[in-house]
Amino acid sequence: MAEIDRYRPDDRRAVDVLYRRVFGADAAEANRLRWDWQYRRNPNNPSDTPEIWLAREGPTVIGQYATMPVRLRVRDREIYASWGMDVMVAPERQRQGLGEVLFRTWDQNVGASLGLGLSESSYRLFKKLRWPDVGPVPCLVKPLTRRALRRPSWPMPVNRFVSAVTLPFVRIISRARPLRAQVERIRQFDDSFTDLWNRVGPKFDVAVRRDARYLNWRYVEPPHVRYSIVALKRNDVLGGYAVYRHVQEPRGRVTLLVDFFADPDDEAGFKTLLRWTDREARAADSDKIRAFAQHGGFRRTMKRSGYFQVKSTLDFTAKINAVEVPDGFYDDTEGWHVTLGDSDQDR
Ligand SMILES: CC(C)(COP(=O)(O)OP(=O)(O)OC[C@H]1O[C@@H](n2cnc3c(N)ncnc32)[C@H](O)[C@@H]1OP(=O)(O)O)[C@@H](O)C(=O)NCCC(=O)NCCS
Repeated sequence: MAEIDRYRPDDRRAVDVLYRRVFGADAAEANRLRWDWQYRRNPNNPSDTPEIWLAREGPTVIGQYATMPVRLRVRDREIYASWGMDVMVAPERQRQGLGEVLFRTWDQNVGASLGLGLSESSYRLFKKLRWPDVGPVPCLVKPLTRRALRRPSWPMPVNRFVSAVTLPFVRIISRARPLRAQVERIRQFDDSFTDLWNRVGPKFDVAVRRDARYLNWRYVEPPHVRYSIVALKRNDVLGGYAVYRHVQEPRGRVTLLVDFFADPDDEAGFKTLLRWTDREARAADSDKIRAFAQHGGFRRTMKRSGYFQVKSTLDFTAKINAVEVPDGFYDDTEGWHVTLGDSDQDR
């Protein structure tokens, strides 16, 4: 019978080996590069050790549940929560109930258990455990060039035809619009971001606490990915931020608007951040901008700024344990702020 307990520093090699067996050599290499930052340096770790549970059989590690602790705002309270991330069971031991025990152990130890971007097997397991399925997080795309609407499944002549027909329309929505406030590039989040969170955070029903410590760790310090970060200011008062990066995908170049934050009632402010991102995406020669936004207010502003909602693949499950939530809490997520920058989805 397997025993479940917490990760210890001398487990690192055994976990590495298991990771390679379950996810393959490339993923294991990428995991090694991220590991120290992702698990050991997380400023929200409740203790000195990473929040990882292991399933052991004698000296052998046969399963893990690795998580990302965060502070989560839930209505008028703030609780300890964690994103479930790299969960795995040794191939020969899968489908024997170990995953379920790992999921339950994690859940019993956190104020809220959160999952984003699930694999087919973990999605099924969440369903089997009847955890609330609150996703997927809506995906929004803004086309910038004629290549934006291409689909690999369509034959080339069809792609060319669609590009030609939609071009005038793409030109109209992608045209440059004036910025209505000051936008500054930044390299660090200073204390004014914590003040912004304290001021605006209470407007969200559910959101990860985006204070300066968390933001620096999440967007400035990662060793494996580099972000561009801008701050929105009016008369030197901080009004929000945007985090983005440009990536090459098989279908073309994409600007990912990974995270953003502003008062959801400050439509002009958020629009300014979106317009800045448009300019940056055009300068980087991107065919489109892609973002994920759970909050209804942000989504409305995005749609008024030329974004379209498309099918989302970002599954999302959340289970609040530390505070009592009212009936229907998981059915209305319009006031929740979740983006691609949450959890470790953007790797
Ligand atoms: C996800 C994972 C940790 C689950 O562990 P497990 O020990 O196999 O899970 P359990 O035996 O406790 O639970 C099984 C339930 O999970 C779901 N499930 C697990 N593997 C599945 C698969 N390959 N296909 C579909 N559903 C699956 C089913 O609901 C299953 O219930 P059932 O056996 O009654 O049909 C394991 O399958 C794994 O390591 N997968 C590969 C890595 C991975 O995808 N990790 C998730 C990254 S988000």
